[in-house]
Amino acid sequence: MSIKAIVFDAYGTLYDIQSVAEITEDAFPGYGEIITQVWRIKQLEYTWLRSLMGRYEDFSAVTRDSLTYTLRTLGLTYRRGAFDTIIDKYLNLDLYGDALATLATIQDRKLAILSNGSPDMLHALVRNSGLDRVLQATISVDACKAFKPNPAAYALIEATLHIPPADVLFVSSNPWDACGAKAFGLNVAWIERVTPEAMALACVESAVLPPLTFFKTIRTQMDELGVAPDHRIRSLSELPGLLSPT
Ligand code: LAC
Repeated sequence: MSIKAIVFDAYGTLYDIQSVAEITEDAFPGYGEIITQVWRIKQLEYTWLRSLMGRYEDFSAVTRDSLTYTLRTLGLTYRRGAFDTIIDKYLNLDLYGDALATLATIQDRKLAILSNGSPDMLHALVRNSGLDRVLQATISVDACKAFKPNPAAYALIEATLHIPPADVLFVSSNPWDACGAKAFGLNVAWIERVTPEAMALACVESAVLPPLTFFKTIRTQMDELGVAPDHRIRSLSELPGLLSPT
């Protein structure tokens, strides 16, 4: 393998998305953990749904919409200021402890980020964390208006760095991203930020939110996708009442 460039996913790979939990807990005591998890799940889900719907909005909009969904679904009322404080953390996420030092030791290769993040989010994040000193490029999928794992997103690496996929190592903690990159033809390193051992331990230790409640929170409430159904009913028996007489 003659690797000429190493390209990193941002959220969850170099930056710890769980680092929003302190701020969500401060803003909504007792809810920090559930907000953090539902928010991330919905954020990614909206990237895929918007892609399939052909209604691209950038990651900044998707991140706001998914937080709106999360707070609404959990029945939390809030002031604009609290919402903005939580969102702002996305521009100041904590770097993983191994990120800066490792990137500093592999400066003989081209180093870059390829992320779903919008250019404004990524540039603020990279500057605020000091990674601008060790990265040669920060590539946003916004350039192709398609989110990973769409092949068009991974094609931006060659278009930007002028290095073919066979000479690039892509690094991501997100399993779907690692698979998407591999399917595209990149060399891929999946970083297991959560090991199977840690996973097994977490299952033993946590019994916080009943799984059914979690499922209902993420799968049964109306989404924030910028469109709304015409009717909202609670029983099929209401259907005839929606129809005008023939
Ligand atoms: C990214 C998200 C998907 O940085 O983690 O692209």
